[in-house]
Amino acid sequence: MSKNIIILAIESSCDDTSAAVIRDGVILSNCIANQTAHAEYGGVVPEVASRAHQVNIIPVVDLALKKAGIEKSELNAIAFTRGPGLLGSLIVGVSFAKALAMGLGIPMIEVNHMNAHVLAHFAEDPKPNFPFLCLTVSGGHTQIVHVRDYLDMEVIGTTIDDAAGEAFDKTGKMLGLPYPAGPHIDRLAKDGNPVFPFTEPRIKDLDFSFSGLKTSILYYLQKRVRENPDFVKENLNDICASVQTRIVSILMNKLKKATIQTGIKEVAIAGGVSANSGLRNTLQEIGKEEGWNTFIPAFQYCTDNAGMIAVVAHQKFLKGEFVGQDVTPMARYAM
Ligand code: KG4
Ligand code: ZN
Repeated sequence: MSKNIIILAIESSCDDTSAAVIRDGVILSNCIANQTAHAEYGGVVPEVASRAHQVNIIPVVDLALKKAGIEKSELNAIAFTRGPGLLGSLIVGVSFAKALAMGLGIPMIEVNHMNAHVLAHFAEDPKPNFPFLCLTVSGGHTQIVHVRDYLDMEVIGTTIDDAAGEAFDKTGKMLGLPYPAGPHIDRLAKDGNPVFPFTEPRIKDLDFSFSGLKTSILYYLQKRVRENPDFVKENLNDICASVQTRIVSILMNKLKKATIQTGIKEVAIAGGVSANSGLRNTLQEIGKEEGWNTFIPAFQYCTDNAGMIAVVAHQKFLKGEFVGQDVTPMARYAM
C-alpha cells in the first residue's frame, strides 16, 4: 500500500550537482547539472567545483521538484550525500539540505555516496536479489562489495592505489585526451584492437592496483615515441583498446575470484566506469559462461546522480534513520 513518503535528495560530492525526488521508492525526477569548467585543467579543481555547486544547486533542486510535480510543502525529508567526496563540494549540499530541512521543519537523512552507487540498481527494474556482489568502479573508488541487504554491505576488495576511473583518466591524459578521458577511451577503443602488451599486476586477495599499469603504459609509450614521434597518433585506437581491455580484465578477474570465494552468482556493476562498453560487454559474456545473473544500471544511474541517493534515503526513512542539524560532511567516509 502506498504510504506517500516523498523525499528530496541532493548529491554534490564531486563535480556534478544533482537533485532527485522519490515517492514510495519510485524516482519521480533525477536532474543533473554537469560542470564543464574542469576540462581545461585536466581534472576536477575543488575550488571551481564548490563554486559551481553554489550556482547550480537552487536551479537543479527547483527543476527536480518541477519535473516531479511536487511542492516543497509535500516533502517528508531532505536527503544529502555526506561523503566520501571533496569537502568544499559536500559542504554546499549539506548546508543547503540543513537550511531547507530547517525551513520546512522536516527531518534529514545522510547518505554514503558509495552505498548509493550500489543501490543505484534499485532505481529501475530488473533489480538484483540479496545477497549480491557489486563491483563499484568510479573516478575515486574501486570496490567489490558483498551486499546482504539495502543497508547491510561490506567491502571485500578495494584498490591499494589508483581507482579504475583514475587509470582511464590518467592514461587518457598521457594520450592527450580531454578530461574525463574514460568515455573518450571507450569511444576510440571501438575502432581498435588490443594489440599492445600492457601487463596485469599480481595483487593478493580481492584487491586491485592500477598505478603499475599506468607506469608501464607511460614507459611503453615513451619508448615507442622515441622510435616514432607519431606513434600515439598513428595507433590511438589500438592503444585505447589495449588500455581498456587490460583495465577490464583486471576488474573481471577479481570479480570472478569474488564469486568463487562467496558462492554468489548475482553480480552487478556500478559507478561511472560501469558506463564503459568494454566492461558492460565483458560482464555479460563472462556472466553467460559462468551462469551469473548480471545487472548493469541504466547510464543515468551509473555516473554521479541524486536518484541513487534518493533510493538509499527511502530505505533509511523506512528505518527511521534521521540525522540532526549538527551533522557534518565527511571527505573520507567508510561504508
Ligand atoms: O561515479 P563517477 O561519475 O564519479 C565519481 O564518483 O568518481 O565516475 C567518474 C569516472 C571518471 O573517471 C570517468 O572517466 C569514468 O567514470 N567514466 C568512464 C566512462 N564513463 C565515465 N570510464 C570508462 N568508460 C566510460 N564510458
Ligand atoms: Zn560516484
